Amino acid sequence: MDMVALARNYPTPFYAYDAEVLRARIAELTEAFKAQNVSLHYAVKANDNPAIIAMAAKAGIGGCTVTAGEIKRALAGGIAPAMILMNGVGKTDTDIRFALASGIGQINVESIPELTVIADIARDMGVIAPIGLRINPEVEADTHSHLATGRRTDKFGTLVEDLPEAKHVIASRPELKWIALSCHIGTQVHNASELRRGYEVMSALFSEQEGLDRLDLGGGFGVSYKGDSYAKPADFAPVVLEATKQLQARGVRIQLEPGRYIAAEAGTLVTKVLYVKKSGGQTFVIVDAGMNDLIRPALYDAYHPMSLARSSKAAHIPCVIAGGVCESGDVFARGRMLPSDVVRGDILEIGFAGAYGHAMSSFYNARPRLAEVLIDGNEARLIRRALTAEEFDAATLAA
Ligand SMILES: Cc1ncc(COP(=O)(O)O)c(C=O)c1O
Repeated sequence: MDMVALARNYPTPFYAYDAEVLRARIAELTEAFKAQNVSLHYAVKANDNPAIIAMAAKAGIGGCTVTAGEIKRALAGGIAPAMILMNGVGKTDTDIRFALASGIGQINVESIPELTVIADIARDMGVIAPIGLRINPEVEADTHSHLATGRRTDKFGTLVEDLPEAKHVIASRPELKWIALSCHIGTQVHNASELRRGYEVMSALFSEQEGLDRLDLGGGFGVSYKGDSYAKPADFAPVVLEATKQLQARGVRIQLEPGRYIAAEAGTLVTKVLYVKKSGGQTFVIVDAGMNDLIRPALYDAYHPMSLARSSKAAHIPCVIAGGVCESGDVFARGRMLPSDVVRGDILEIGFAGAYGHAMSSFYNARPRLAEVLIDGNEARLIRRALTAEEFDAATLAA
């Protein structure tokens, strides 16, 4: 769709999602794993808009959540409670109570103290908690250090050496029904063999346990922000099969939690150029979106493709593309080539922003949280309106 035209109907900045791309990525995943005993659970953290969750739900995909709020959004998107998993190293009592009350399919427990807390809450509620044990398999994914989650020093999961103690606690608590082992090695993994090691460790560990029927291997399938060659679900599927063939043959269900792969490519942050500023030999293109809207470049030094929404025959020049937030780190890209005739009012598209974009946004600098628009063919519809700082202020109590 022509983003210049779209920006006439919706004030910038806003997020636009392409429904065709979302459907294509969902279909690619379901197709890749359809011959296996695999259930897919969309990691809602990547993009928690219920309209997007609904597209995954329609394709039979479940949900992977980390808070009560995400469970609510997964339910609002039409995912059946039994198909919802919950992770999270810091689940609050409210999160746990809500998860148990909603009857979600599996709570992945990340520590021994958490086992006791869940058991106490389940006893208080008179329910049985279906739990998975999240293992830290001590495998290092080849990704940004903030995105790796399965190293010995990471906060996630339980180390294998602590498994006997965890099992001892589980055995002593009738409120806990242990059904699964789980892991999540990292995100934005671009090479199938990086996940193979973790899958193999988990598969071997699973084989040593009794009475479990689900092995949750987490998410992590990467996307190609720069357009270079990346492993696709069709490349990951044989690796999953290879590592878990024997388990699948005896009826064990493999669970996967893809987030980024479903949502990233479909999303564009549509922003307007406010100022073109020449300073210190550089060309700064200051846009009306900022790091509060898309924090990935500031947080992870992440690359996003960026281009003007109009064509131009002008020569390209290196630009610093920055937002208006009062932080030096509020820079989307340096040395990015844009046409030299870029002017105030131009629309800039920041691509591959559908995952960990809006979901990680904030009200910093009293800026709004942005509207989200779903484009389906020639149709565009608002799927979440902007939330202004004034609305947020309404929650402020008198000093
Ligand atoms: C436990 C867990 N599962 C799934 C995911 C989704 O990962 P991705 O978006 O890379 O597929 C994450 C993200 O970090 C996660 O922490």
